[in-house]
Amino acid sequence: MQNVFVSSHPLVAHKLTKLRNVDTNPKKFRELVREIAALMTYEATQDLSTHPYEVITPMGETTGVQLKDKIGLVPILRAGLGMVEGVWGLMPNAEVWHIGLYRDEDTLQPVEYYNKLPVAPTVQVCLVLDPMLATGGSAVATVDILKRWGVNRIKFIGLLGAPEGVENLHKHHPEVPIHLASIDSHLNEIGYIVPGLGDAGDRQFGTG
Ligand code: PRP
Ligand code: URA
Repeated sequence: MQNVFVSSHPLVAHKLTKLRNVDTNPKKFRELVREIAALMTYEATQDLSTHPYEVITPMGETTGVQLKDKIGLVPILRAGLGMVEGVWGLMPNAEVWHIGLYRDEDTLQPVEYYNKLPVAPTVQVCLVLDPMLATGGSAVATVDILKRWGVNRIKFIGLLGAPEGVENLHKHHPEVPIHLASIDSHLNEIGYIVPGLGDAGDRQFGTG
């Protein structure tokens, strides 16, 4: 499928395996989410635009580059929060705009509960952060929100996807690149990714 990128980096695979492990405690889980998010973002941002500028080094002058576009990190609450620190470490000037969505347990449809985006967009590129792309409902709804806000350059960065979620996001927003550490086998009857890692929010926040 076009515009779907699954990391083949051994460090990502190594850390993802630890993340999946049922014995990984919340502290370690948060550490791994942060680290994998940074590695995924390094891969996902290879095509960001830059413009040149002059710098003076201790030895002379040279032309370097800086990022051209204002970037917005958009974690989907709650589980996306754990990815922010890892990504923000790479691009400390990014703005962070939280979107609150939870899945209705019966319908699996996303329900919006937090959105404080200002009227006019303040960034040109948005990186949507959510570890789990299950049915894809939350990701589709978030990209809808960002497009209505006026941002059209959007990337999705996640950790695990189900084939159903990848297909759903791609069908609704084919121009949005989807970056994942793994696409797993399937969704179970209650919408969880198998083999997956369980509930990413609960495992980070110790609420399971
Ligand atoms: C999880 C996850 C995604 C969503 C994915 O959030 O973090 O946002 O489910 O499922 P979907 O692709 O089927 O929409 P959840 O609703 O459990 O809320 P939480 O992060 O607050 O725990
Ligand atoms: N949300 C999660 O946290 N885990 C899943 O497997 C699916 C949705």
